Parts: sequence; structure tokens; C-alpha cells
Amino acid sequence: MKKDKLFAGKTLAILSGGGDTPAINSSIEAVRNRAAMLGFKVYGVLRGWKGLLGDGDIVDLTNIPYNGIYGGTGLLSSRTNPFPSKKNKEDRSEQILHNIQRYKIDVLVTIGGDDTNGAAKKMYEKYGIPVIGFPKTIDNDLRTRTMHLYQGKKHEVVLCPGFASGAIQIKKMTAKLHTTNESHQRIMVLEVMGRDAGWLTGTAMFGGAHMALIPEVIVTKERKDFFFEKVKENYMKNPKRSLIIAVAEGVRWYNDEKKEIDMVYASSELDEYGHPRFGGISGVIASEINKKLGIEARGQISGYIPRAGKCYEYDRRLTSTLADKVVDLLLREDYGKMPVMKEIVPYCEVEEFHTTAIEMGNIGNFPLPNLYYNLNEFQFSDQYVDFLTNIIGEPYRMEFNHHFPIVIP
Ligand code: F6P
Repeated sequence: MKKDKLFAGKTLAILSGGGDTPAINSSIEAVRNRAAMLGFKVYGVLRGWKGLLGDGDIVDLTNIPYNGIYGGTGLLSSRTNPFPSKKNKEDRSEQILHNIQRYKIDVLVTIGGDDTNGAAKKMYEKYGIPVIGFPKTIDNDLRTRTMHLYQGKKHEVVLCPGFASGAIQIKKMTAKLHTTNESHQRIMVLEVMGRDAGWLTGTAMFGGAHMALIPEVIVTKERKDFFFEKVKENYMKNPKRSLIIAVAEGVRWYNDEKKEIDMVYASSELDEYGHPRFGGISGVIASEINKKLGIEARGQISGYIPRAGKCYEYDRRLTSTLADKVVDLLLREDYGKMPVMKEIVPYCEVEEFHTTAIEMGNIGNFPLPNLYYNLNEFQFSDQYVDFLTNIIGEPYRMEFNHHFPIVIP
């Protein structure tokens, strides 16, 4: 065969697993474009690892139009774990190996968080399958070893495609909530996804959330009392008598009846990676505020909104840049690695020279560091504001300031 391109005759397959984000299609498009240009035939594996089980479920992406702006994933997703788990004791990793050989896949790019890429790491270590991990999560909790330069010091943070788009959605949603909340002089408790990490909850601050609770800081009995004091103080301080409190879905909250720290689940059934599904803490906190403080409060679950809709510009540029790094790994046949940003840089500086590749063995969860949250104020710190400003720009919200003269009869 005449080899007019470097990787002619080779096949690269892409899969996406875990919760979707608005940036997955953008990642697929960016990796596909670059791999095809190098000469690879590019396959898409449907429904994450599931598409490599049984007979396999594979499509050809090489020469078809692919809309990377549309959120979600055209390759579909699942939380299938090929390795034994509490939910599924069977080891199905050999089926994956078998299909990789049967479909003659030379390189596998796995777009996922800790779970999907954790399984990819095991496939690489156990069978030597050439894998390249590609980060993805609105939770922003997959360790990328990215550094944030703040006041002359470097701090380890995380930057995953999907987070920026999710952050913009939460910012917009929070900014909108003020109008209804102010009209009723209420306390609104806004619940935000993020599983065991508070990265995404902090983005509500950019839409004007006054306080926040994160999973990394346990709300013990004493801290709960302190929280209620602060809620009352902040509510009374606001001339509009309105307060928005952002709470992470995975907040650890003291349960007065059970007399223990609790979490609120939408379903305690575990997925194949051992995770239950959170949901409902906002309602619990709102009703306790009502009861304890006598101030009208409501719970609002932002739910799937941060995961839904289009891929925003920062993510678009980030996915393209990380895909450039994938090219570098392919050219050097350097597998078992995941491209990441070395440091937090503003939109216009997201370029390949700011990237690096970390060993898949080093991936794992990375929660919000202490310095990014202000314990006394129940709020994110200036350090977090600086981090997020690089990614989504300045906090913004409309204000309606009126001074109606009072009429005296
Ligand atoms: O991990 C991403 C995530 O969106 C979490 O923030 C959330 O807890 C979970 O997925 C929800 O999963 P599902 O899509 O299964 O409801």
C-alpha cells in the first residue's frame, strides 16, 4: 500500500463514558479531525466501554461532518465498567481486548472522568492497549495537575473540558434567580452538581450567590449552628432581604434526627463504579431555614442544566488545544498518557505550548483545595475568583436598584 500519510492503514477509535458535558462533541471533532489528517481511519465506539463488549458497536467517523458545538455526545455514553465492581462482579476486560483486536484498533482515545480513564489505565497496564486519556467532566474533579499562579505562588488546581461551559450555565442561572427571589424576599437554596467536589458550586458566585456550602467542608452540628447565624446576618444585611445560597449536591450535612452527618440521595443504588446518585439537599436545607429562622426559603435544583446546551468558547479552544497535544502523543507513540493544561491561562493563551501529558497512573480525584474556600464567610475565596475569572471572565449580573419615595397620607 502506498503510504502517502504517516498513519495510513492504522485505526484510531474514540469513546466517551460517564456523565455528558457540553464539550464532548467538541473533543471528538477535534481529535477526529487531527487523527484523520494524520492518515488514521477514525472509529467511534458507542456508549463508552459498552460499545466494546459482546459483538461491539462501532461507527466510522473518518469522513462525515461532525458538529462539535452541539453539547452532549454523539457517541452516546454509559457508566459501563469493564472491570469487576460491587454492582457487576464479572471481569469483562477480555471482551474489550478481543474487540480491539477484531476491529483492528491501533489506538484508543477515552474521553472521560476518573472512572472511564481509570478503566483505560487498567486496560493499558493489564494488556498494553495503546490508550490516550482525554479529560472531561463538569465536576472538574479529575486531577489534571494544572497550576494556578496566584500572588506569586503556584497552587495545584484542576481544569477539565466541560467545566467552563457548565460554569457559564450556573452563572447565568444564578443571575436570573435574583429577580424572582428579590420579588418574594426569600432565601433561595440552589443545588449544584459536582458529586464530591465543590468546583462547580463556586461558579454560582459569579452570578451573585451570597453564600455556599461544599462537600469538602463537613457541616457538623456546630458548623450548622454557625451557618444559620450567618444566613440570618447576611439576609438582614441585604436591603433587598434576599439571599442565594449555592449548595453542592454532595454536601455532608448534620441530620438533627439521626444525630449524624448525612448526604441526600436521589437514588442510593450504585452505578458500576460504585457511585450513588445525589439529589435533594437543597429542599432539606431550605425547609430547615424556614423552620429555624422563620424566613421563607425555597430549594432549586439546577440539575442537568450545566451539562446541557452548547459548547462555549473556552471549552472549544481547550478541546482543540488538548487535541493538538494528542497529535504530539501519537507522533511519539507515547501511550498511557492524558493531555492536560500545565497552567491556568486566559482564553487567548490556551495554546499547545501550555499543555503537557500526565501518566494515566497519576489520575484520580482532586477536590477543591482549602485556600479556594473561605470557611468563616461560607463563600469562595478571592483565590477562587481569580482562578475562575481566567476561565469565564468577570462575575456579572443585572441589578434593579430603586428608591421609591414613600407616600404619607
Ligand atoms: O459526574 C458528572 C455528574 O453530572 C455529577 O455531577 C452528577 O452527580 C452525576 O453525573 C449525575 O449522573 P447521572 O447522569 O447518572 O444522573
